[in-house]
Amino acid sequence: MVICICNDVKDRQIKAAIASGVDSMEGLQAALDVATCCGCCEPMVNDYLEEHHSINASLVDKLAYAV
Ligand code: FES
Repeated sequence: MVICICNDVKDRQIKAAIASGVDSMEGLQAALDVATCCGCCEPMVNDYLEEHHSINASLVDKLAYAV
């Protein structure tokens, strides 16, 4: 699914970049040119980043509990 119409960036590209370690809006903009034109896609890109950060925080909590 295309997330950034201006730069033809798809959700799978954003997810792949985040999975490879890009964890900021600035990083995604540099890597994919997403959200660098009109900015309409920025809220959706932020949702992907927040979901990633939320999952990481949850895993850290679980690991801290397990130790
Ligand atoms: S839709 Fe992404 S910058 Fe315009």
